[in-house]
Amino acid sequence: MRLLVTGGAGFIGANFVQRTVTERPDATVTVLDALTYAGNKRSLDPVSDRIDFVHGDIADLDLVDELVSGVDAVVHFAAESHNDNSLAEPWPFVQTNIVGTYSLLQAVRRHEVRYHHVSTDEVYGDLAPDAPAFTEATPYNPSSPYSATKASSDLLVRAWTRSFGVRATMSNCSNNYGPYQHVEKFIPRQITNLIDGVRPRLYGAGHQVRDWIHVDDHNRAVWDILERGRIGQTYLIGANGELDNKTVVRLILEAFDRDPDDFDHVTDRPGHDQRYAIDATLLRDELGWIPRFGDFRAGLAETVRWYRDNESWWRDAKAVTEHAYAQAGERTLDPAE
Ligand code: NAD
Ligand code: TYD
Repeated sequence: MRLLVTGGAGFIGANFVQRTVTERPDATVTVLDALTYAGNKRSLDPVSDRIDFVHGDIADLDLVDELVSGVDAVVHFAAESHNDNSLAEPWPFVQTNIVGTYSLLQAVRRHEVRYHHVSTDEVYGDLAPDAPAFTEATPYNPSSPYSATKASSDLLVRAWTRSFGVRATMSNCSNNYGPYQHVEKFIPRQITNLIDGVRPRLYGAGHQVRDWIHVDDHNRAVWDILERGRIGQTYLIGANGELDNKTVVRLILEAFDRDPDDFDHVTDRPGHDQRYAIDATLLRDELGWIPRFGDFRAGLAETVRWYRDNESWWRDAKAVTEHAYAQAGERTLDPAE
């Protein structure tokens, strides 16, 4: 299978490309990535001699049309992906997540190429603490510019499938963790803070719940859907990994043999979603997918090791990221707040 992977220099895309090249010798991979602040070509170093890398924008209609004409399938990971950035500056999210997806859809429509759309559970908005988990039937209710633009892109895919017969599948996954994740995100931010001797930073009281899944489990599900998923179907991907943020910070501190209360509460994110949770019954029953990383502590320990061993991969981005958080007004809360 000849694959075009968008966003292949980002966190999930790079893990997908590495696994694909290693485990699927019959697949050929072309990566299209704009190398924004979130893309890092070094994430593809282990496989760089076995892929084609194209530095370009998914919203470039001519480039996308040419690349799509030469492949059997497109796996679309490229996005602006960080909620906090979308609150500071929404425009790149509209451009890449909506216009970029439009550009890919027009090309796969024209060349009748199979398309898999990678999306997020955040399109469903937040859940009350005791509400049932999201299913494929949950109505969309996005909260942030990030989740609203991902929701918009999902709706474009549905329309192109129904109106133009595009052979598309979609997946909406919960929060990923693992190697090569940008240090702006929750888990790598705290790990790299601790490596630097800085206390972890928890937004507000830290009662928000996320449903953590290892990136390799996500990517195995993407392959299952690409090969055996029903055209037009959305699959939710999640591994029953619900934890509140405070618990995650305490587990990260534990992995560093530190006092579990050795963290700071900092200003909360506006519009912060309370809880996400996935019911992956359809994926499990129909495609037989089962997560392999059942033990979050073990997956976290492996991730901590990766950041310790690969400091040169994240060092430059760390300073820029922390400067941006400070500029955005993040500050430590005192105990009375
Ligand atoms: P990321 O921010 O780490 O990587 C995004 C990649 O896309 C980067 O390499 C960037 O350079 C590239 N990119 C951005 N704009 C582009 C453009 N206009 N043209 C070409 N390339 C461009 O993101 P990620 O965490 O790897 O997420 C990948 C996908 O998975 C996204 O669609 C995201 O919504 C979805 N997702 C992420 C999570 C998560 O926990 N990270 C969970 C569920 C779904
Ligand atoms: P994040 O990794 O940004 O993912 P998302 O917003 O897509 O869920 O954040 C995960 C959770 O961690 C979210 O509830 C916000 C919280 N958070 C912190 O408490 N401290 C931090 O420094 C960051 C970046 C996030």
